[in-house]
Amino acid sequence: MQVYRDKDADLGLVQQRSIAIIGYGNQGRAQALNLRDSGVADLVVGLAEGSPSRARAEADSIPALTPAQAAGRADMVVILAPDETHGRLYADHVAPNLREGAALVFAHGLSIRFGLILPRPDLDVLLVAPKGPGTALREDYLRGGGLVSLIAVHQDATGQAESLALAYAAALGSGRAGILATSFAEECEADLFNEQAVLWGAIPELIRAGFETLVDAGFSPEIAYFECLTEVKLIADLIAARGLAGMTEAISTTAKFGAMQGGARIVNADSRTEMRRILREVRSGAFVRDLIAEAEAGYPRLEAAQGQARGHPIEKVGEEIERLKG
Ligand SMILES: NC(=O)c1ccc[n+]([C@@H]2O[C@H](COP(=O)([O-])OP(=O)(O)OC[C@H]3O[C@@H](n4cnc5c(N)ncnc54)[C@H](OP(=O)(O)O)[C@@H]3O)[C@@H](O)[C@H]2O)c1
Repeated sequence: MQVYRDKDADLGLVQQRSIAIIGYGNQGRAQALNLRDSGVADLVVGLAEGSPSRARAEADSIPALTPAQAAGRADMVVILAPDETHGRLYADHVAPNLREGAALVFAHGLSIRFGLILPRPDLDVLLVAPKGPGTALREDYLRGGGLVSLIAVHQDATGQAESLALAYAAALGSGRAGILATSFAEECEADLFNEQAVLWGAIPELIRAGFETLVDAGFSPEIAYFECLTEVKLIADLIAARGLAGMTEAISTTAKFGAMQGGARIVNADSRTEMRRILREVRSGAFVRDLIAEAEAGYPRLEAAQGQARGHPIEKVGEEIERLKG
């Protein structure tokens, strides 16, 4: 796979543009500040009147307009609102105001891959997806580094779309870490799969299940917490530094032997069958249909799940341990 870096990008392509960032949350703020520090002078944010994010943008000295006004004055419009809102946001506020030949930029492939947005043919349509949260994108940039970004082109109306995606990724700081080419479909499907089957879905559930097993068997909640949760940070750091095999080489023989015996019993053939089922639901669009229905209903299942997670005994133990640490 080809990896692009700063030397492959012409930063001038974005510095000379008028850019509107729609949404000023996790990604929106970090991207806007990195762009400004990379020399983009003409930058506005698009937010609904009364949006609580407006005060934050203004405190950062970035003018906040409505999404319609912001889209109408820019020649590069970056959609950084939540994915499930893109269809309506684009149809009602962005599409009617977009300039002829403008570039439309996304940080995740979902709304193009699943047809929430059908862009006009005169537009360049780009993906620049930083692989990490906005806080890390900003902090790494300020330290002189960057996060890896994936880039893709869905429509190349001007013949410049790929160069523009490279330049935008470099302005975010990703040219210092690596910029990889993919497609909207690959980025989106792999990301939706990983969110459910590995990182945000499976790992927290595994931690809770391990904690519950120990506490139900009479172990003290504090010991269960240290064993099943605190050490996640240590293993993540080891994996990041040394890879999966290198991580295993860095632990005791007892831990290595236990890992060999236990891992495949928990992530077994049934787990892999379920992973394939999750991937099929992602690719068929069933997951995205559920997401949109959840958003239209006002997020009742999501709020209930968050309430349940917040009320789990593991949170109370975590708070007590933090208090003890002072
Ligand atoms: N978070 C990540 O780590 C991450 C990583 C890579 C890519 N992405 C992608 O980045 C995009 C943004 O995600 P995010 O996590 O940054 O979202 P977020 O933190 O939830 O922020 C959303 C922002 O959009 C605004 N907003 C909500 N609905 C809007 C609408 N209808 N019109 C205009 N603005 C609206 C919100 O304003 P209010 O204050 O008014 O609610 C808020 O400022 C998504 O496509 C996501 O998949 C995220």
